[in-house]
Amino acid sequence: MSDSSGRFVLVTGGAGYIGSHAAKALAARGFVPVTYDNLIHGHRWAVQSGPFVEGDIGDRAKLLETISRYNISAVMHFAAFAYVGESIQRPERYFNNNVTKSLTLLDALVDSGVRHVVFSSSCATYGTPDRMPIAEDTPQRPVNPYGETKLIMERALHWYAGAHDLTFAALRYFNAAGADPDGKLGEVHSPETHLIPLVLNAIDGRGALEIYGGDYPTPDGTCVRDYIHVADLADAHVRALDYLLSGGASVAMNLGTGNGHSVREVIGVAEHVAGRKVPHRIVPRRVGDPPILVADPSSAARVLAWRPQYSDLDCIIRSAWKWHSEYSKVRPV
Ligand code: UFG
Repeated sequence: MSDSSGRFVLVTGGAGYIGSHAAKALAARGFVPVTYDNLIHGHRWAVQSGPFVEGDIGDRAKLLETISRYNISAVMHFAAFAYVGESIQRPERYFNNNVTKSLTLLDALVDSGVRHVVFSSSCATYGTPDRMPIAEDTPQRPVNPYGETKLIMERALHWYAGAHDLTFAALRYFNAAGADPDGKLGEVHSPETHLIPLVLNAIDGRGALEIYGGDYPTPDGTCVRDYIHVADLADAHVRALDYLLSGGASVAMNLGTGNGHSVREVIGVAEHVAGRKVPHRIVPRRVGDPPILVADPSSAARVLAWRPQYSDLDCIIRSAWKWHSEYSKVRPV
């Protein structure tokens, strides 16, 4: 690989939660992340490695100019709307942003000769499977527009790859959580809907946590999820990129730990970490929440030699609490 070949990686949505951690991981491995973000949900302060281009993935001219200016050789595509509830209320927003605009991006890549894509997919593409853990050959039957848009883009990548000498890795995340172990980056969503930040807000006295349902068929009645540390996700992205750059064939892989934790377990660990109680109450179930979602991560372990390092629940919540208590208050949101 020459100096200018294979080093500049376009990171769409690189000012967002997972994208910013991936940009940091890319820089740590000698790549130059070129963050491309419209800052609708991303944050300028989260761009801490490499150049920044403020742009929308629907802007073909700006994409072409950016790809050419930086001699981009591969893309990590994170830019997407990702609120499941909103996607049910406003599907048009999700199909437009996550599908139509993503296709504009793919077309720009093909026209520019960019041949490798690491795509941010989701366990939401599986919907509510009958069997746990979820392996990659589990039928993908999304139960909300967000998951549908991610599945459509996986399928689009499959067909584009066949036609245009392109390879891709579709990474299906389970529940991304935690914060940069160095404390420089973390989760800041507006509005916040994710469990762990809301648990930490509740500890801080910002209202009781609402547990969505206490009567699920799980050991303690609350939903079980597979929480994966964002730094482990970032590491998997760089490994997937290396794999594609070394000639690996297109793949779709789960990124999770294989271990499930209930909402009550998350609360218990957070109370232990913070040394304070989490005020909470049980409310009715949230529409569309499956009782249990747990990954079979063996494919990523085999293909990418990926082993989560930070993803035990205690470590996830410690990093999130550190970010929450020391850093998020001094960042402009
Ligand atoms: N939960 C609560 N109270 C809250 C927030 C969440 O009880 O205030 C529960 C949910 O019911 C769920 C668990 O905590 O059981 C985790 O909820 P999150 O909203 O943090 O995450 P989800 O599992 O709903 O969603 C995640 C990603 C989505 C992705 C989805 C796939 O955030 O982007 O997994 O199912 F689509």
